[in-house]
Amino acid sequence: MNTLVTGRRLARELGEWRSGAPAYKALAERIRVLLMDGRLSSGARLPAERELSQALDLSRTTVAAAYSKLREDGFLASVRGSGSTLQLPGRERGEHALHPGLALDFTKATAPAYPGIQAAYAAALEELPANLVHDGFDLVGLPDLREAIAQSYRDRGLPTSAEQIMVTIGAQHALNLVTRSLYSPGERILVEQPTYPHALDTFAQAGARVLAFPVRQDGGWDLSEALLQIRRAAPSMAFLMPDFHNPTGMSMSVHEREYLAAAAAREGTVLVVDETTAFLDIDRGPMPPMASFSASILTLGSLGKIAWGGLRVGWIRGSREILAQLLRNRPAVDLGTPLMEQLVATKLINDMPSMVASRSLDLRRGRDTAVRLMREHLPQWQVKVPDGGLSLWINTETVSSSALALAARAEGLGLVPGPRFGVDGAFERYLRLPFCYTDGQLHDGIEILGRIAAHVGSDPLRMPLQAVI
Ligand SMILES: Cc1ncc(COP(=O)(O)O)c(C=O)c1O
Repeated sequence: MNTLVTGRRLARELGEWRSGAPAYKALAERIRVLLMDGRLSSGARLPAERELSQALDLSRTTVAAAYSKLREDGFLASVRGSGSTLQLPGRERGEHALHPGLALDFTKATAPAYPGIQAAYAAALEELPANLVHDGFDLVGLPDLREAIAQSYRDRGLPTSAEQIMVTIGAQHALNLVTRSLYSPGERILVEQPTYPHALDTFAQAGARVLAFPVRQDGGWDLSEALLQIRRAAPSMAFLMPDFHNPTGMSMSVHEREYLAAAAAREGTVLVVDETTAFLDIDRGPMPPMASFSASILTLGSLGKIAWGGLRVGWIRGSREILAQLLRNRPAVDLGTPLMEQLVATKLINDMPSMVASRSLDLRRGRDTAVRLMREHLPQWQVKVPDGGLSLWINTETVSSSALALAARAEGLGLVPGPRFGVDGAFERYLRLPFCYTDGQLHDGIEILGRIAAHVGSDPLRMPLQAVI
């Protein structure tokens, strides 16, 4: 059964879609952009023409012409009796899956493997035989690894025992497990705006009603808006990234941590704090973990950014009661974290200070190079310099980042447009630029960006159709 996109949802996702071009073309083009960057999925069923024309306050003829254009270009398949289904035509399907046509893929903010990882695998292999006597299904994590993770919290000033840790297959898996266990259909989830796209995907799949409050580069976390939302809508869960927030790279002040932890605890909203990016410090210095301010906070962690994404080891820190609930739910999701990777993770966590120092050096180089190149090639864009994280979050003021991403793709450069990080099509004028690449890659990528930005206006329709391919 293909998911049906309702007229209201499509209207929200479309955001500011109108332009100087004929309305049917503008509409078709924007739907195509949403499909290309993953905000609408291939196989999704579009609303009936009448429904969309009502949601957009447009004539039905215009919507019909837009659908026809999409059909003609191969983006829509219509089957009698089952409506119009989005699809990626052959070439773009291949490109979408693996980006083989992209010489430079800046769609992911993820750093290369920590150089010590090979040695950690070799040392772990030595320990494998002793672990082969167990059945290997491990739903909570190896005792040594849980203890090493607990120690890493104690090192940050937060008393933690191994029983408060569950090892997972990365933070994304942890978030799925937590959402499945704590969230019931019909409840609301509060997120930061902007936020991490795959968290939004997880909440959308759970059928959640997502509310957002702003995180601003010039004012930080909007505490009064967060409080208002928590009081008014009583969300069951709030998802936050207090340290080197993805995509802005910002961190909450101590006051912001304290305030949000207290507000959520008072109103019964469970805070799910994602610390996947927490170790990516360039020149900020230590901050107290958010969980220092409330015992009911659930913290997600991962070695994905600090060590290597391919390791797939993360964890959840929470109360014993919550972990017991997660454990009951876990077999429906998976049957445990791989043992070899846990042995490697144990070695790496015990090597945390070296990993943090090595990552910091490389991120500093990438950040400084990216900022310098941005000032050289795109001096008209204001670039805020983050003190950690993996990316610049750039307000272009005038340029449509959806159009920019399409134009960049035609030049072999993959970019994620701003609205992937927002709820309801927000951030069309923003761009996330990861700086976790070599100086040469940053040079080539930003040079392309500078060149195409001059030709891409605020109107996605100025992008010629063939430019995508
Ligand atoms: C904020 C955030 N959470 C979770 C993840 C996914 O982490 P993992 O690779 O451990 O599943 C990422 C990776 O991009 C991230 O940026």
